[in-house]
Amino acid sequence: MSVLHTGMVLFLGLTLMTLKSTGDPGSAPKVEVQPFGTLSSGQKTDLYTLKNDKGMSVSITNYGATIVAIKVPDRTGKVEDITLGFDSAKEYEEGKAYFGATVGRYGNRIAHGTFMLDGKTYRLPKNNGDNTLHGGINGFNKKLWSVREIPSADGPALQCTYMSPDGEEGFPGTLTATVVFTLYQDKNELRIDYSATTDKPTVVNLTNHSYFDLAGQNHGSILGETLQLNATRFTPVDSALIPTGELREVKNTPFDFTHPVAIGKRIDAADEQLKFGQGYDHNWVLDKPKGGTRAALAAIAHDPTSGRVLEVLTTEPGVQFYTGNFLDGTVKGKGGYEYPRRSAFCLETQHFPDSPNHPNFPSTTLLPGNEFRSTTIFRFSVK
Ligand code: GLA
Repeated sequence: MSVLHTGMVLFLGLTLMTLKSTGDPGSAPKVEVQPFGTLSSGQKTDLYTLKNDKGMSVSITNYGATIVAIKVPDRTGKVEDITLGFDSAKEYEEGKAYFGATVGRYGNRIAHGTFMLDGKTYRLPKNNGDNTLHGGINGFNKKLWSVREIPSADGPALQCTYMSPDGEEGFPGTLTATVVFTLYQDKNELRIDYSATTDKPTVVNLTNHSYFDLAGQNHGSILGETLQLNATRFTPVDSALIPTGELREVKNTPFDFTHPVAIGKRIDAADEQLKFGQGYDHNWVLDKPKGGTRAALAAIAHDPTSGRVLEVLTTEPGVQFYTGNFLDGTVKGKGGYEYPRRSAFCLETQHFPDSPNHPNFPSTTLLPGNEFRSTTIFRFSVK
């Protein structure tokens, strides 16, 4: 071996060693796993925790590909869990509020549990009055997902996959859905990338149903927290929360969040839409940058007491802003805390509710050979 050659081998060897010891992606497991309890079927579940260098962590269970906890610092550096949820998978199995869940195959409502696709009528189980909500009785939030840690240059990442059989909950086509949760190593951002493929024409609307209280999950009312939405229109609903089909201007209504407003400021105003939702439980039509395909800023929430700020960015055309109107203090959550009414808000990025029955809404149809893709980012800071 020539001196030059030996030198090169040594150099290469050293470079490789350096890379390993400085923690190249995949050199050490970045995701911690712990048991999260047994389901009524006897299946065991796990809780996966992703941590970054900025004091943030995110815990996710394979039951429902559910976000169980998001812990972020406040303006003094105090780290608190700011999402509602439970301490074991069994409680999620019994729960009805969709805390932190991946919602599918069709998030939000489908009127009268029926829609037409390719000239065929499909009937779905009704679980919300006369309508189908969040994928039916056994939606994706009630399924055990396959989970694996995947390499990512951005930070710890968890891939969750679920194959929904043809005809499940009445929907046509085998749908293979993947959700990747990536926590950025160097900034307090959680990115959620959804993708799905099908073997028959179907409808898809995937979202995450995290309930946020930026003051901490056991702090009570969110009515003093402020919200700004990048939306000049919303989709008004009937008394069963089904969109009428109209895209209505928010101007001069309690639905105008184009500037930051305390969530509680107008929530009990004499307004028919607020009456129907018993508060906010509506889809806003996001104002999108022209020609942009990247996740764009949809919402900014701020808690003046802790200073925590949540920005939501998404590629989706809409966001359901729901103020926990159906929570009533009877559900015991994490640490035994009983979540009162309006103790959290949800920002469910989505296609509009009941899109399969509204040809004027952006389409939720997925065809074989095409891939559904969608990204939502929860970005945290303090102010
Ligand atoms: C969504 C719906 C609400 C309610 C919650 C879950 O936000 O729009 O009406 O069903 O999910 O309780």
